[in-house]
Parts: sequence; structure tokens; C-alpha cells
Amino acid sequence: MTRVTLRPLAEADRSRVREILSAPEVSRWWGDPDEETDGLLAEGEEQSYAIEYEGQTVGVIQSWEELTPRYRHAGIDLAVHPDHHGLGLGTEAVRILAQRLFDQGHHRITIDPAAANVRAIHVYEKLGFRRVGVLRDYEQGLDGTWHDGLLMDLLKGELR
Ligand SMILES: CC(C)(COP(=O)(O)OP(=O)(O)OC[C@H]1O[C@@H](n2cnc3c(N)ncnc32)[C@H](O)[C@@H]1OP(=O)(O)O)[C@@H](O)C(=O)NCCC(=O)NCCS
Repeated sequence: MTRVTLRPLAEADRSRVREILSAPEVSRWWGDPDEETDGLLAEGEEQSYAIEYEGQTVGVIQSWEELTPRYRHAGIDLAVHPDHHGLGLGTEAVRILAQRLFDQGHHRITIDPAAANVRAIHVYEKLGFRRVGVLRDYEQGLDGTWHDGLLMDLLKGELR
């Protein structure tokens, strides 16, 4: 049974989004909470959603689309507040959004966690994502150092 629902993020969610992204276990992987909050709430090509569980916003999830026909695919990123880690909610949220993107006609979804983010990688592999390869020095941390990313992808029919 699915316990999580996704609803579009709105400006009224700003303080809760910032709170989620400011938690050290999240900002470690997401970067500057103010910049990332602005990014999630900006009107742009990305679609951002609140992850709702038992009447509370417990996380955020975002999708973006590459619409060039020959390379058409979508990507996903998410964060769950540490108070709600380990309950299966992140897994459910990715499953819902991935299914929605496949239903909208996408055949391939990518995700690019930090190579050291073993919990996120475990969740994505559980859902059927496969490791494509290491993106060397892909992302800059809050301390200014560059670290590797892991490109993962999921094809239609592989979602578990
Ligand atoms: C990654 C994240 C979204 C997962 O959401 P979640 O709701 O905590 O995940 P779930 O409860 O659905 O699943 C957690 C799984 O990771 C496993 N896990 C927990 N810690 C782990 C670790 N250190 N190494 C490997 N697996 C780990 C759990 O056992 C569980 O797997 P299982 O169901 O097979 O037992 C969430 O932890 C998060 O927001 N982290 C901080 C931000 C982040 O890393 N975002 C992803 C950026 S790409």
C-alpha cells in the first residue's frame, strides 16, 4: 500500500523546504539550502513536489525533462527530512514519480547521486536503477572540494 502522496510545491512551502534542505544529513548531499530552496520553488523546466505523509511534508522531489527528441529522457532528485529516513518513504516517492514519467511517455530516467551516497544508491538500485558509471569530480561540496557522482539509469519496464 502506498502511504505517500506528491503535490506541487508552492511558495507557501518555502520555510519547510528550507528546513528539510538545511538538515545536515540532507545539505551534505544537496548543497547550499538557500540556493537549493530557490531552485525548487523557481518557475522553470523542473517540476517540484512536496512528499506528503500522514498530513506532513516530509520531503521534496523534483523531475526535469530533456525534450530533444533523439535524447528524450527525464531525471529525478529528492530529499527526505532525517526525522523520516528509513521508513520507506523516499523509495515510494521515487516509485510514484518514475511511474508518472513513464506514463507520460518517457522510456528512460536518470539519477545522479554522489558516488559516496551509499544509502541513496541502495534505494535507487532497489527500485531497478542500474549503475552506468562514475562521473569524476562531478559536483562541488559546500567545502569547495569536488567529488565523484554516479550516473544511474532506469528503462521503462525495469521499475520495481
Ligand atoms: C536517500 C533518501 C532520499 C532515501 O529516503 P528514505 O526514505 O530514507 O529511504 P527508504 O527508507 O525508502 O530506504 C532506505 C534504504 O536504505 C538502506 N540504508 C540506510 N542506510 C544505509 C547505508 N548507510 N548504506 C546502505 N543502505 C542503507 C535502508 O536499509 C533501506 O533499504 P531497505 O529497504 O532495503 O532496508 C533519504 O535518505 C535522503 O533524503 N537522504 C539525504 C538527501 C539525499 O541523499 N538525497 C539523494 C540525493 S541523490
